Amino acid sequence: MASAKILSTKDIRGMRAVGRLAADTLCYVGESLTAGMTTDDINTLVHEYTLERKARPAPLNYKGFPKSVCTSVNHVVCHGIPGPQKLREGDIINVDVTSVLPARAGWFGDTSATFYIGKPSPLARHVVEVARKSLELGMAVVRPGARIGDIGYAIQTFAESKGCSVVRTYTGHGIHRVFHDNPSVPHYGRKGTGPLIRKGMCFTIEPMINLGHYAVDHLDDDWTVVTEDGSLSAQFEHTILVTHKGIEVLTRRDRPLQHSEDKPWTDLGELSCFIPPVASEE
Ligand code: MF3
Ligand code: CO
Ligand code: CO
Repeated sequence: MASAKILSTKDIRGMRAVGRLAADTLCYVGESLTAGMTTDDINTLVHEYTLERKARPAPLNYKGFPKSVCTSVNHVVCHGIPGPQKLREGDIINVDVTSVLPARAGWFGDTSATFYIGKPSPLARHVVEVARKSLELGMAVVRPGARIGDIGYAIQTFAESKGCSVVRTYTGHGIHRVFHDNPSVPHYGRKGTGPLIRKGMCFTIEPMINLGHYAVDHLDDDWTVVTEDGSLSAQFEHTILVTHKGIEVLTRRDRPLQHSEDKPWTDLGELSCFIPPVASEE
């Protein structure tokens, strides 16, 4: 595999700005969610919010994707296309925001979360909270000298211990001026395998966790990915920068998400939560 890009100080400034924008957009979506709205309403919110900030929604026209954000409800794993579907009490929905800033030839920031519409069933809550923690545990092992396989190992061990499965077909990815670059970051795997992680690398971690089997299917629209067994699926995603001793979460939020249980995992610190003081430049 071709090696991953190492970002310069100037590159990192671009990634910080777009990461903040993508995170703000996701917070704004959480604050706007209500039962009865359509996934297309979410698309409109994201589209307008992004353009108002002189940025561009990366999904729009990406390999033919027709909308500005991915909305994946219940058994939809990822790449759900916004449309007339109304959100109902008890649904779970992943909203995956990718912004490009500046709009032309800019940097990409990619982040997603799964939200609750009304009160979730115990099983819905289980898969969502396992997915949330899977991302935290994956991020916690990233530092220079570790291997990409360490991330998948941490996630798979945890998710399977909770009776869930890890989707194989889609992975995290290098990200900078390119949406999907090396390295590919599987959310399953073996410790000590895969590419070496180096300071200055930027990539996403975005585990898709299923309540049932990990196998997926595609709908006729050529985009929507669903669980083969119809079980619920949840996902969280951050864009991270590898620093000298760990990571900076470029898509960290300045406030907790609404309609999701966005709180620090006390055992892991404040990795993705409401506002870590900005990690030091070094
Ligand atoms: N945001 C997705 C990811 O995490 C990619 C969406 S591609 C699209 O990599 F075309 F479906 F938008
Ligand atoms: Co991504
Ligand atoms: Co994404």
